Order: sequence, then C-alpha cells, then structure tokens
Amino acid sequence: MASKKTMETVKIFDTTLRDGEQSAGAGLTTAEKLQIAKQLELLGVDIIEAGFAASSPGDFEAVQAISREVRAPIIASLSRCNFGDIDAAWQAIKGAENPRIHTFISSSDLQIMHQLRKNPEEVLDLAVASVERAKSYCDDVEFSPMDASRTAPEYLYQLLEAVIAAGATTVNIPDTVGYSIPSEFGSRIKDIINSVPNIGKAIISVHCHNDLGLAAANSVAAIQAGARQVEGCINGLGERAGNASLEEVIMAIETRKDLLSVSTNITTEHIYRTSRMVSDITGFPVQANKAVVGANAFRHASGIHQDGVLKERTTFEIMDPQLVGWPSNELVLGKLSGRAGLRSRLEDLGYHMSKTELDGVFEQFKDLADRKREVTDMDLESLMAGQRRMDTELQSYILEHVQVSSGNHDVPTATVSLTMQDGTKITDAATGTGPVDAVYQAINRIVKVPNTLTEYRVNAITEGIDAQGSVTIRIEHDGSTYVGRGSDTDIIVASAKAYMHALNRMLDITGTEASKTTA
Ligand code: KIV
Ligand code: ZN
Repeated sequence: MASKKTMETVKIFDTTLRDGEQSAGAGLTTAEKLQIAKQLELLGVDIIEAGFAASSPGDFEAVQAISREVRAPIIASLSRCNFGDIDAAWQAIKGAENPRIHTFISSSDLQIMHQLRKNPEEVLDLAVASVERAKSYCDDVEFSPMDASRTAPEYLYQLLEAVIAAGATTVNIPDTVGYSIPSEFGSRIKDIINSVPNIGKAIISVHCHNDLGLAAANSVAAIQAGARQVEGCINGLGERAGNASLEEVIMAIETRKDLLSVSTNITTEHIYRTSRMVSDITGFPVQANKAVVGANAFRHASGIHQDGVLKERTTFEIMDPQLVGWPSNELVLGKLSGRAGLRSRLEDLGYHMSKTELDGVFEQFKDLADRKREVTDMDLESLMAGQRRMDTELQSYILEHVQVSSGNHDVPTATVSLTMQDGTKITDAATGTGPVDAVYQAINRIVKVPNTLTEYRVNAITEGIDAQGSVTIRIEHDGSTYVGRGSDTDIIVASAKAYMHALNRMLDITGTEASKTTA
C-alpha cells in the first residue's frame, strides 16, 4: 500500500451551493449558504463553488459574503463565457483569500448547434477570450467545456489546448447529462492526457451527473485515469438526478487507497454532520439506504451479519462509522442531566459553545427531557438544528402559542399567537379540514401572505412513542418555493414551527414587511 506521504492528493471541489442549489426548490438565504460554507471549510474541501454571481443579486450577495468570511478554501464563482458574467464573478470573489473564476461554455455539436446556435470556431474564440479576461483578474482560472463527454474528441483536445495556452489552470471535464459509463469516461480522461500537448500545465477535474446512477463510479474511474480534482455535492444534490455524492467519492478514496493510491484533504469525521446540515437546510431528505450517510448505512438487519459484527466489526463493515462522524444512538442524557453533562455530550458531537449559547440550548434540552424519557444523540442533533435555524432566520414572527381542538365528531379548530419583532402580540383562530390545516389557516389570518402548500412530510427522529416528529414543508409564493422545518414531540406544534420557518424565510428573501392587523 502506498504511504499517505507519497500519495498524490485529489482536490475536492464542492458545488452544493451552485449546482446543488440549482435543484428544484432548494432556494437558500445568504445566512444559510454561509452556514453551509463554514461547515464545508471544517470538512476540509479544497474549493467551494459559492454560486453563480451574475445569475441574481441574491447569488452575488452570497458569493461575496462567503468570499469575505470563509478564508481557508478557494472560493469560486461560476460564469458563462461572456465578459459581463466574468466581471460580476470577479466583483463577488475579489475579497476572497483564494479566489477562482470558473467559466464554461457548451462544446458538444448538439449543444453548440441547437442551444448556442454558433459554430465550433466561434465557441473556441469565446472560450479563449473569456479565459484571458478571467486571467486579467486572477491567476486561478477553471474552464469547463459543457457536455464534454458527448463532445467530438479532436475538437475537445483543441479547445483544451487553447484555453490552457490562454491561462486556464484547471480544466474540468463535465459529464453534464450523466451519459457516460465508467470505463468509457476513464478512457476519455486518458485520451485527453495523451492528446493535449500542454495538459501538464493544468489540473484535470471531473464533474459527473447521476442520471444513470454512475456519477460516483465515473468520478472514481477518472481518478484512476489521472484526474486530480473531483466536483460534486453533499448528499448528491444537483441538477435532475444530482451530481456525484462527495461523501461517496471521498470514502471510496479513503477506503480503497490500496487500489487508488491517492488521498484527500478531507477530515472525514465531519461528513455525517455536513450531510445532516445540508439536508436540514435544503429540506431534501437523505434516503435511508444511501451510501455513507443514510440511516441504514451502518445498520445490520440480518442475524448472521449482526453476529459477525459483534465478533469482529470488519466482517461486514468496510468503514468504521466513527470515521464519518456517525453519532451513536445510545441513551446519553435524561431529565436529571445537568449543564456539564449536556456540554460534554455536545462537545463529543463537535458542538463547542459559549456559556450564553449553552444556557439557551440547556433550556430547550430540559423542555425536551421533560417530555421525552431518553434524549439520544439524534435528539441532540435535531435540537442543534433547531437552534441553527433560529440563529439564521430573520424572525418577522415568532410562534408563541398553538392550541388545537379536533376529534372524529368535531370541526378542527386552532388558536395561534404570534409575536412580531417590535413585541406586538397577535392572536387569531380558524377552522380547517384537519388540525394542521386549522393551524395553518389561523397563521394565514395573521401573516396574510398568500401561498400554496406544495409538500408536507413528517418523520420520526428516533424510535418509540415519545419520539420527536420532524416536519418538512414547501410553500409556493409568486413562482418561488420556500422550505420550512420544525421538530417537536407534538407533531401539530412541529407543523406550526415548520410553517413559521417557511413563512419567515419567504418574508426575508422577498423583503416583505410583516403586517400588523388581524383579518
Ligand atoms: O454540469 C455541468 O456541465 C455544469 C457546468 C457548468 C460545469 O454544471
Ligand atoms: Zn453540473
């Protein structure tokens, strides 16, 4: 086995905040993007693609904020091959410690003819001019020929040679439509290495989509062929079926270094937390049987497997769950636990906080422990997620009180009290088709911003009758979607919290003022 010292490093390029955010309904606020970026920094990713600065003022603001506040990784902004985009990308990232401009243009005949309506020579000229423009701002320039896996090889070599000569320091080979299979994609990388004369002056990156479920496999094949940067998203988020799951690629490199002989700069123990944070903030659940981070990833159902693992873990486990930061689900704390016990357990889970922060969390912990006999690590993770939501959410309205009456012969009726930022308390009541609907109708009478509930999902955080329910909802307003999450041992309260979270995010993102009069 090659020692870690002699191994080459594969750079991990995270595009959760750009390609991931592009996926339907994941619209995030700047504060939420910053939280994810800070967690990615802890995880140790080499490059964060913070957004597409020219695409909207919100994206510009987020890229700029991340550039200012997240100092260790390279911060990249995407841009099309036009000067306006490149100038905007530079304005957004120029405050970064390590800025990168990532510029792209379609290279396959199909996209050049039907989408760009240009000819290949024009595309090559635009690519070169754009890399030169980007280079006039910063040294670190990445170029992507979009749909590279369906691009005529000779044209692709010519294009790559030209952009490297113009100053591109990374050339990214996207399998934009997720069409490749591993042996073919690996050969394409080898052919590029053998056919582009100046390829040694740039790092080869890959960016694989998961339309055939092969994105991680294609990325690993590319590494074997010589790629030294892999792009992807946490939890495999991204356009359509998503991008390569970074946690899968990272753990493949880690687990099979005997074969791959490369390493990464990732602190793998932060993987689980990063996955949960991204799922919580985006509202996209992680499927139970998802590799590395799914709820069942380290759960052994068969008796034979359980027996083997109890005798020797490696009989049926190829990765140590602790290596990806998996929390135990043992009973850790209860009603009688004190501040010191809570602090120590939270520190084990990686949460370090000041005395005042701990005081706030302790109050919520006591409230939970009163209602739930056993407080597990999963409960603590959910409590911290709730705290994080409160820290980032601009709370135009705070949920004070919910009371519901319902039954098989009653009309479901809810009374809700909300407090506004200036301290004004508003109470209203409504009926509905069920208790959750009644609560939402009562809230609507106070907030008065029309919207449509497009998704409502409830999951149990742990097992047992006293388990907390975690509610995820999506609402639509003016063509945009807003996610909201809330958890509580009472699912009606969890539903009210999720709705308030979605409404507050919507008011924050749209800049809508809270209303003071009741209906
Ligand atoms: O999938 C793709 O081709 C992209 C490029 C912009 C890199 O996301
Ligand atoms: Zn992509």
